[in-house]
This record gives sequence, structure tokens and C-alpha cells, in this order.
Amino acid sequence: MAAFYLEGQERVRMKEKILELLKNSKGYVSGEAISHQLGVSRTAIWKGINRLKEEGYTIRSVRNKGYCLEEEPVVLVEDALRSYLPRPTVFSDVYVYESIESTNQAAKALWQKGLHKPALIFAREQTGGKGRRGKQWLSPKDEGIFMSMLLSPDIAPHKGSMLTLVAGLATAEAIAELTGLEPLIKWPNDVVIGDKKVCGILTEMSAEMDYIHYLVVGVGINVNQSYFEDEIVTMATSLKKVTGKTVNCNALAGLVIKAFEKYYQQFLEEGSLTFMMGAYNQKCVNIGRELQVITRNGSWEGVGEKVSEDGTLQICRKDGTIINVNAGEVSVRGLYGYV
Ligand code: BTN
Repeated sequence: MAAFYLEGQERVRMKEKILELLKNSKGYVSGEAISHQLGVSRTAIWKGINRLKEEGYTIRSVRNKGYCLEEEPVVLVEDALRSYLPRPTVFSDVYVYESIESTNQAAKALWQKGLHKPALIFAREQTGGKGRRGKQWLSPKDEGIFMSMLLSPDIAPHKGSMLTLVAGLATAEAIAELTGLEPLIKWPNDVVIGDKKVCGILTEMSAEMDYIHYLVVGVGINVNQSYFEDEIVTMATSLKKVTGKTVNCNALAGLVIKAFEKYYQQFLEEGSLTFMMGAYNQKCVNIGRELQVITRNGSWEGVGEKVSEDGTLQICRKDGTIINVNAGEVSVRGLYGYV
């Protein structure tokens, strides 16, 4: 049974509260100080500390000094994740699975079982991770962030795919903030570093003509992989491969959610993406590049001009005509490679 602490009207898990105190204090905090602050017994504190240790936290305890947080888990762990989520958050429920077929699949199943509020679904491993156009998304244990945001926004269905752009910008900004790298966005759903992909986004929707039931924005980030299989090694990379350092998945996921929420709320208020298109276009790797547009009936070439507020990519063909392409109908590649 989880122990809870009452913060205003909110029930916060006891170990989450202890973690917050340890994270906010430099050095040791005595058991007495923690129990005084939270108004619970020393035994309750001791139990909470032990739970955190079981989850991968290194907490040193020294007689007469108290507890000191030395190391946090870098793989996805519920308490660590929650400690990095914005408070308050639009996501009322957070699920972290050890291993699951696909977080997008799980999000849809949760909705169908009656979970009709925004939720976050994470997995440490996916056994059947889904990519766009029926491809698979390799999701090795504890090496990446595999997450889905379950939402039911009150927007017109044709605007649903715009959330892919929101998630792309949020992810690129979060990676930049945590690592100092300068990731770019390959329209509409990839985040790239150099000429390689570090993140893919799969947005799925259930809707009627004029009404969205739910929307699932699935984000897969290559974080700590050291190795990629031959078929994808020329196209994919991880943050660890680029920086040479292990990256904290919980901290990164928290930053992605924080940035996503900020843009998502503004999008709902304003009903358009106008406010973020400047930032998006600045990071969009397709702009000013020669592109190959692949359609069901063949392919054609042009130069990327800009991504418009409605999420379409404006491309200038060789004869000077401007075509707006829709992410659902075409796929775009660089003329000389994946980017
Ligand atoms: C792509 O680039 O093709 C999109 C990849 C999306 C992968 C993520 S991982 C989390 C979520 N669950 C899935 O099964 N897919 C998405």
C-alpha cells in the first residue's frame, strides 16, 4: 500500500515528498527534520527511503546526520519521472510499464476501458513499438524514452495532426536544454541531430467528422543506445552516441512534457499554431533544402519554403509553382539522403 501526504487538496505519495525534500537540500537532512516537515513518524520516513532505494536511488544514511541523495536512476522510474513533471500538470494519471507491446496501444486501450482524462504512458521497453507507415520502432530496455500522451482536446479533427508539430518542437527544445545540443526537426515528425534521427513521433486519433474522441501522441527518443543495427545505423543515432554521456531519461521526459504542455495550452487557447511557427521554422531542417516528395503515384522534387500554421509544408517546384503538402499524404526526404 502506498503512503500518501496531503498537499492542499492534492494527495502526493509519501516517497515522492521525501524525494522532493532530499533533492532540494544540499547535503544531509535529518530523519527528524523530514518527519517534522511532513508530520509523519520516523518509521514512515525510513520505509519511504527504502522504497526509493529499491527504485534505484542511492541514498546515504549516516547516524546523527540523516539522509543524503547521492545518485538518481537514469532509467524511467515512476517517482523519478514524477519529480520532473510540471506541477500542476494537465496529465492527471501517469503509468510506467516495465515492458509493454506499445505505449500508443496501451493509451488507446486505457481510453477504451474508460480513462477519459489526459494521461501519460511510459514504458522501459516496448516489444512491438510502432513507427509511422506500419514500420516498427526498436525500443530496447532502458535505452530510450517510449511514451504516449493520451488527450481529448476540444478541437476540430483536422487540427489533430498539429500536435505532432507541438511534440516535435517540445522534444527538440527539451533535448537542447538538457544536453546543450542543437537538434533540428525534420517535418513533420522526426527530431534529428546532424543527419541522423534521434526521435520519432506517431500521432493517432479516434474521431467523428466534427469531434475528436481521443488523440495519442507517441514519442520515441533514442537516449542511451550505444549500438544500432546495420539497417538503421546510417540513419539513427542516440543522445549518448552524440554526447558521449549517459543522459537521465526522467529529466529529459520531464522537460519534454513541460514544453509540450506550455505549447499545447496556448494552442488550445488560441486555436492555432501561429505563436510557435517562427520557432518551428527556425529549427526545421527541410527549409531551404532540395527535397524529394514521395506520393502514392510517384515522386517529385522541390525546395522547402516554410511550414505553415496548418502544419502543411510549402514546397517550391522547379517550375516555380508552390505546393502545400500534407504529412498524411506524402513523405519527404532530402535529395541526397534521409534528411
Ligand atoms: C516514427 O518515426 O516512425 C514514429 C515513431 C514513434 C515511436 C513511439 S515510441 C512510443 C510510442 N509507442 C509506439 O508504439 N510508438 C510511439
